[in-house]
Amino acid sequence: MDSPFKADALKGKVALLTGGGSGIGFEISTQFGKHGASIAIMGRRKQVLDSAVSALNSLGIPAIGFVGDVRNHEDAKRVVDSTFQHYGHLDILVNAAAGNFLVSAEDLSPNGFRTVMDIDSVGTFTMCHEALKYLKKGGLGRTSSSGGTILNISATLHYTAAWYQIHVSAAKAAIDATTRNLALEWGTDYDIRVNGIAPGPIGDTPGMSKLAPDEITSKARDYMPLYKLGEKWDIAMAAVYLASDAGKYVNGSVLPVDGGLWLSRPRHLPKDAVRQLSRVVEKKSRNAPVGLPKSKL
Ligand code: HXC
Repeated sequence: MDSPFKADALKGKVALLTGGGSGIGFEISTQFGKHGASIAIMGRRKQVLDSAVSALNSLGIPAIGFVGDVRNHEDAKRVVDSTFQHYGHLDILVNAAAGNFLVSAEDLSPNGFRTVMDIDSVGTFTMCHEALKYLKKGGLGRTSSSGGTILNISATLHYTAAWYQIHVSAAKAAIDATTRNLALEWGTDYDIRVNGIAPGPIGDTPGMSKLAPDEITSKARDYMPLYKLGEKWDIAMAAVYLASDAGKYVNGSVLPVDGGLWLSRPRHLPKDAVRQLSRVVEKKSRNAPVGLPKSKL
């Protein structure tokens, strides 16, 4: 699908994306590149990075890959610094790296819980912390008079609760809190906008194939009225909006991009029944003698 944004919306920007070589992260890398940005991607698997970089290059997008694990502070520092050394500045940081698996709370070991917290939450903070010196207004390599921007990818499952996802719910909640707190502190002190995107179920991603095999997805359509899969493109367009000047007044927001799914719940009464019922109730209360205590109505 074509982008509704101008092709130069991110012209001249340098974006570093963790988890940018696959899934949603790769689609954001691609769309940022198609809108004029130069791309650096960080990931653990060299072959994934290599094929992502050649795919971007084949579209004419300048791209470089850095092997690293966001759980390792030295890796985070090296990758952020190398991106700066390679391109001469850094404007956009996208934290899209994530870890996940389905497991009940009682079967999850504390180390399993910690592993996902380390990748998603601590990893996000570590990357932000390392990128600050380049993103802040007047920071290293900055030619523009404004600060850079950060996008943190979370989810919607912690808005309520999610089966077999206690570790991820906790981790994504921490990411959203990090987004808002950095938006407050770094927006005020350094002119850095920090926002988040909370994707719903997005088709053709490692997350979906791990969390919702096909048979579960088709059942979910029956009881969730708004259920439909999103596309990676939907998330990438939200990212272009937030990272570009279109989002220049947006700071500290976490944008759910899920078709409204997190609001969805089974309808407890058919619409016609509710029309009938509410009229009967109104009629009863209108006909009730004045002064009768409410409990007698
Ligand atoms: C129970 C598990 C487990 C499982 C790992 N663990 N997999 N526990 N069920 N399926 C536990 C291990 O037993 C261990 O604890 C601890 O987690 C660390 O496991 P390792 O395998 O040593 O960790 P590591 O090799 O670093 O792998 C990290 C990972 C892995 C998160 C476990 O799945 C991974 O690297 N995933 C990256 C890719 C990914 O998941 N992408 C999808 C993101 S989807 P013990 O106690 O035994 O030592 C996404 C969408 C979220 O983010 C929103 C959805 C709506």
